[in-house]
Amino acid sequence: MNDFVLSHEEIRIIEFSEEDAEEISQLFREVWPQATEYPEGWRKKRMYSAEQIIDDMRNGYHYFGSRLQGRIVGVYKALITDKGLFGEHQAVSAEYRNSGLASAMYVQFAEYGKAHGCKRNYCNILVGHKPSERLMKHFGFCPWGEPYEQYPGMQVQMYERPLDEE
Ligand SMILES: CC(C)(COP(=O)(O)OP(=O)(O)OC[C@H]1O[C@@H](n2cnc3c(N)ncnc32)[C@H](O)[C@@H]1OP(=O)(O)O)[C@@H](O)C(=O)NCCC(=O)NCCS
Repeated sequence: MNDFVLSHEEIRIIEFSEEDAEEISQLFREVWPQATEYPEGWRKKRMYSAEQIIDDMRNGYHYFGSRLQGRIVGVYKALITDKGLFGEHQAVSAEYRNSGLASAMYVQFAEYGKAHGCKRNYCNILVGHKPSERLMKHFGFCPWGEPYEQYPGMQVQMYERPLDEE
């Protein structure tokens, strides 16, 4: 775990393109094997290949994140649905944790949702996952519905943050 906090100027959240798919895949393959709080089968599913990422992009998913010193160190994907802007698959390189990267992505998640007329931001969070639950609280998300089993043995809670009331 590092002990520095990046400033907002240092963190710029951008949208990635198909040319970045291999590098995003590398980040998933770095982050998910270490995320042992999730079941192994789920972690394997999260390690998308570049082809899966490109396929996603061609099917309406936007991949957003940040590059630091030329390297992609944080990413998440978002989809506009009839319910709002759905975010998932957030991953930050272990080297850069706790420096505000995920927070910067949550700020941009709201801005993008508002700019595209979305009613809410929403996402699934692993029940008991402290960093994510802390982010939910910090960004004013509320539980939406009851926890459910998204994958065998894995309970998640969906959270929402209305965007039209702000
Ligand atoms: C969850 C994750 C994306 C957070 O990324 P990050 O860039 O480190 O997040 P931030 O630095 O913006 O903020 C993390 C917050 O959690 C807190 N936190 C971190 N580890 C914690 C822990 N073990 N217990 C409690 N709080 C913790 C931090 O202090 C910070 O809170 P603060 O801003 O109030 O100080 C990252 O840990 C990750 O990639 N994990 C593996 C994959 C994953 O679980 N993704 C979420 C899937 S939806």
